[in-house]
Amino acid sequence: MSNSGIVYRPRRLRATPRMRRLVAENRLHAADLVLPLFVKEGVTAPVPISSMPGQVQHTEESLRDAVADAARAGLGGVMLFGVPAVRDAVGSQADAPDGVLQRAIRIAREAIAEVEGATGRPGPVVMADTCLDEFTDHGHCGVLVSTGSTTGAGSTGGGGSTSGGGSTSGGGPTDSAGGGVEVDNDATLERYAAMAVAQARAGAEVVAPSGMMDGQVAVIRDALDDAGFTGVSILAYSAKYASPFYGPFREAVDSALQGDRRTYQMDAANGREGLREADLDLAEGADMVMVKPAGSYLDVLRGVADRSDVPVAAYQVSGEYAMIEAAAANGWIDRRASVLESVLGIKRAGADIILTYWATEIADWIKEA
Ligand code: PBG
Repeated sequence: MSNSGIVYRPRRLRATPRMRRLVAENRLHAADLVLPLFVKEGVTAPVPISSMPGQVQHTEESLRDAVADAARAGLGGVMLFGVPAVRDAVGSQADAPDGVLQRAIRIAREAIAEVEGATGRPGPVVMADTCLDEFTDHGHCGVLVSTGSTTGAGSTGGGGSTSGGGSTSGGGPTDSAGGGVEVDNDATLERYAAMAVAQARAGAEVVAPSGMMDGQVAVIRDALDDAGFTGVSILAYSAKYASPFYGPFREAVDSALQGDRRTYQMDAANGREGLREADLDLAEGADMVMVKPAGSYLDVLRGVADRSDVPVAAYQVSGEYAMIEAAAANGWIDRRASVLESVLGIKRAGADIILTYWATEIADWIKEA
């Protein structure tokens, strides 16, 4: 036989579906996937979210069904967001015992218990977003403090250099929360603590602070423990970047955000800072850490995964969903293959847990495969 001189032929391991399946380095499991769900107060039918085709703002009844479907699909978790009928400056409904999110948590727990009873298999863990933006009338993730129009930071930075503030924003309401106001870090922490405890009381197994306030994990841990909820876990949105990919989410929660979130969410330019944020959350007692969005921050995800001894999650956000749905609807990309590749890429980059709006659908595809 003539020798071609080629010793290594990697194509051997790609030659058949059997072989490709055998040598796959990463696989998606339903149990790795977490489905985010929106529940809207006071609606009698689910409201489609136009910028997220296929997703809706649920009624309590349709939430029950969606959670049961998620349970039957074998998902690892559901992440609940509430859309309240009434908003105010401090987000009072966020910790109201009968607020929309607390009600949703109870319903989700019930639906899961039912499916678990019927199937004998563990259902999804119930997680709740712990953040005020859905509940405030100004749409920010915390309570505002007036800084005067020229001095810049409130309690978040201790000086104009860190937070921007009204005077340095070039006149627009973009660097601060708008009109010389800023999100007050420490006052917001008290609200998060109350919210986390209300969620735990309602039955949340995991609370997920997503507001990027300094010290939020430690304060929530303290509050949960003081209230007797030592067993409730914290999934920290640790490296959460200020991103246009949250755009469709605004519609999903009816948020009319004034200004932007750049004084508390991170700058896309900064990777090392994302690792530092994760380190701080780990030191404060986070049980799990998260990187968000996922697709544009796979390097940060890999970095966090390499240094974290706790499970690492990634959130494939609303805009990532919308992009693939829009391109697929136009026939420009193959929908299923693109969804699977986008999620597998997140797993390959180091995510143990993936939040994705396609979770239930992907779980069904995996069963077929
Ligand atoms: C904050 C929160 C947001 C998302 C999840 N939690 C919005 C934001 O921080 O601006 C975005 C999720 C998505 O876009 O899919 N409550």
